[in-house]
Amino acid sequence: LPVAPFDCVVFGATGDLTMRKLLPALYDRFRDRQFSPTSRIIAVARTAMETEEYRAKAEAALRQFVTPASLDAETLQGFLALIRYQTVDALSDEGWAALVAILKERPEQVRPFYLATSPELYGPICQKLARHGGLHPLSRVVLEKPIGHDLASARAINNAVGEVMPESQIFRIDHYLGKETVQNLLALRFANPIFERLWHADMIDHVQITVAETVGVEGRGGYYDRSGALRDMVQNHMLQLLCLLAMESPISLDADAVRDEKLKVLRALRRVEPHEVNSFTVRGQYTAGAANGHPVPGYLADIGGTERSLTETFVALKVQVNSWRWAGVPFYLRTGKRLPRKVSEIVIQFRTPPFSIFPREQHDLQPNRLLIRLQPEEGMRLEMMTKEPGPGGLHLRPTGLDISFEKTFGIRYPDAYERLLMDVVRGNTTLFMRRDEVEAAWGWVEPLLETWAERPEGPRPYVAGSWGPTAAIAMIERDGRTWYESED
Ligand code: BG6
Repeated sequence: LPVAPFDCVVFGATGDLTMRKLLPALYDRFRDRQFSPTSRIIAVARTAMETEEYRAKAEAALRQFVTPASLDAETLQGFLALIRYQTVDALSDEGWAALVAILKERPEQVRPFYLATSPELYGPICQKLARHGGLHPLSRVVLEKPIGHDLASARAINNAVGEVMPESQIFRIDHYLGKETVQNLLALRFANPIFERLWHADMIDHVQITVAETVGVEGRGGYYDRSGALRDMVQNHMLQLLCLLAMESPISLDADAVRDEKLKVLRALRRVEPHEVNSFTVRGQYTAGAANGHPVPGYLADIGGTERSLTETFVALKVQVNSWRWAGVPFYLRTGKRLPRKVSEIVIQFRTPPFSIFPREQHDLQPNRLLIRLQPEEGMRLEMMTKEPGPGGLHLRPTGLDISFEKTFGIRYPDAYERLLMDVVRGNTTLFMRRDEVEAAWGWVEPLLETWAERPEGPRPYVAGSWGPTAAIAMIERDGRTWYESED
């Protein structure tokens, strides 16, 4: 069904995120007829350009980033016709009156302002919008991650935006929350009592969350070198996954009910003390190696740097949640660039039987595991021990109960941004981060960053195409466990 008519204003309209993700997501929603006839896209950036020139750039991006099967000339032309371009300088008064004049042509439309810019501009843009009369009760502002660089800068942004907009109109996006499998975590946990009864330290030995990428920093070196894996992936995406896995049942699906429970998890994260940092964290940086069978340069060459950089492109963490449910159950997190495969996966590993009637020498008893795969193929698999068929005696082997979402439902899986952009128009903040969540996540991450900064040794090197520094393997093996390597 179409959503309410909207004027989606994209700041940073010439940037990478807009071209790769936002325009393709809007195109796919348009193609699926979710746009009301008067909806428009107003692309905004500092560069002086005519609408026609911007449309040509948008077309090139769509041809590159939309699945070819979804591209047809008529839909493409229809979509491009909805786009207007307006030059605006976020830091001066240039262009604002013209932008607001465009918006005032349709005062009754929902107004999502998507800020795909550097976070330093979030406050100034919102303040300018307010000063020039661009905000109204149907306005919504979407803030891309990272919200700041640390707790103080996140607070400053939240304050500046909060001065001109109520929390209910602020959408802090974490695109992982728009992934189908991530939303499925709510279904898995709270619609299937068989799992919820097992979701406890009594039954679960530990949890692993891996988000591995084969890409390097892909021309984003300027941003990445000031950020690093902990800020880029852990503070937001991975802690959000952890929250959904670890939280108690919310009292309803209301945005605040869900976010209240996630916040409690963030507040229960055990702080890593400076003297523990080497036991609970491993940071790495890739050196020259291979990706998808081709030689690739190391991180320093990728960012065009000459001197040593202390930025981590890999991080592994052992995280503990201080609660009755999770006492003694470690959550092992790892994420990195230039790892061997692109895979995002959660492993819930259950406890081994307290006593086994199957002699250890004859049987390789594997613990039960629930694997939740976010990408590439979304699905879940419950690994169980079964008897190998045959008359030759009782031989056990692990077998999986599999659900592949795509095969089961047989439809194209929408990109995370498609779902989230439409939620913005609908005014539904459930899958967006509330101010206190973002700040609590920074509050946990910041002491780690500070301790790392005080250590002169910096990240450990790992060869591009490997699973990170061996210290990450040692970290989990010290606990008598191993990282799960799924088969392709
Ligand atoms: C972004 C990070 O938030 O997530 C990128 O800034 C990263 O560095 C990306 O590559 C990963 O997203 P996905 O959806 O491809 O797993």
